[in-house]
Amino acid sequence: MTLSRRGFLAATAALAAIPAARAAGTVNVYSYRQPALIDPLFAAFTAKTGIEVRTIFAEDGLVERLVQEGRNSPADVLLTADVGRLVEAASRDAAQPIDSPVILDKIPANLRDPANLWFGLTMRARVVYASTARVAQQAISYEELADPKWRGKICIRPGNHPYNLGLIAAMIAHKGEDVARDWLKGLKANLAFKPSGNDRAQAKSVYAGECDLAIANTYYMGLMLTNEKEPEQKEWAKSLRIVFPASPDFGTHVNISGMLMAKNAPNRGNALKLMEFLASDEAQRLYAGGNFEYPVNPAVPPAEIVRSWGAFTPDTLNVAEIAKLEPAAARLVDEVQFND
Ligand SMILES: [Fe+2]
Repeated sequence: MTLSRRGFLAATAALAAIPAARAAGTVNVYSYRQPALIDPLFAAFTAKTGIEVRTIFAEDGLVERLVQEGRNSPADVLLTADVGRLVEAASRDAAQPIDSPVILDKIPANLRDPANLWFGLTMRARVVYASTARVAQQAISYEELADPKWRGKICIRPGNHPYNLGLIAAMIAHKGEDVARDWLKGLKANLAFKPSGNDRAQAKSVYAGECDLAIANTYYMGLMLTNEKEPEQKEWAKSLRIVFPASPDFGTHVNISGMLMAKNAPNRGNALKLMEFLASDEAQRLYAGGNFEYPVNPAVPPAEIVRSWGAFTPDTLNVAEIAKLEPAAARLVDEVQFND
C-alpha cells in the first residue's frame, strides 16, 4: 500500500462507514459536487454493478491534488461543477482520453473536449431573473443589459466568479474583446449596487426591491422554489420569472458540470463503467433532476419544474472555446473595475 493510498482511505473514512469491498471492486471519485447530489447516483450505480464508489468531496484544490499525487493518485474519476476545472485538469496532463461510443453517442460534441479528455454531464443557462411586479418586458438580450434604460436596475455577483467569467468569455468569443469591454462597462453602469453575494442573494435583492433584474444560473430557481430548510427562499423565487436572454449572435450562454478519467486511474475498467453510467438516460435523469439542471444527453427531458421555465436556444460553440477565454474575461473585469 502506498502512502497516498493510505491517505485516501483515511480521508474517506471520515465521510461514512465504507462497506466491505465487493467482488466487483471499487472506483475512486474526487468530486467538486456536493455529496447530497451525487450519492443517489452512486447508489444506483452500485446497485446495478456491485462496484463500490468511494468519494472525496472538496470545494477547492482537487485538480491540484490530482497533479501533485501524480502516478500515486488513487483517483479514477474527477467530477466538477464547471467547465473551467475540467479544462484545467486536461491542460495539466491529469486526464486521459476516452473513446467509448456509449459516452460519445450520448454527449453532444460541443459539450465535451474535442480530444475526449472530458465530458459535460449537466448543463445550466446563465439567465435573467426579472421582477414579476416591476418588469413587463418579456424578452431581454445580453447586449441589452448594457442599455442605459436599465440604469440602477441590475444586480449580479462579482465579475470574477467563474459563472460570470463564462458569460463574459462567451461575449468575447462571439463578438470580440472590444465589444465585450464596452458591454461590461455598460453593464457596470447599470448596476444597482456593487457586485456582492452569490446568485441567490441577487434573487433576494429583486424580491426586496433593490433591483429589477438579477443575473443568475437557472438551477437556483428550482433550489429556491423547493427549499424547505429556508422557506423564505420560496418567496424570493415567486417574485421572479426566468427570462432566457438570447443574444442575436449566440443564443443563451450555458455552462456545464462534468467528468473526466484521471490520467493515472488505478481502476480504469470500473471508472469507464461509472462514466458510461453517468452518461446513460437513467443517470442523466437523476443527476440533472437532482439539481434542476438540463441533461446533456438530448434523449432525456429535464425535470418538470425546469421544463416550466420554457424552451431556449443554447449557444452551440464548444464550451472549451469559451473556457479558454476566461483569463481574458478576468482581465476585462479588472480593467473596467467591475467589482468596485
Ligand atoms: Fe452554483
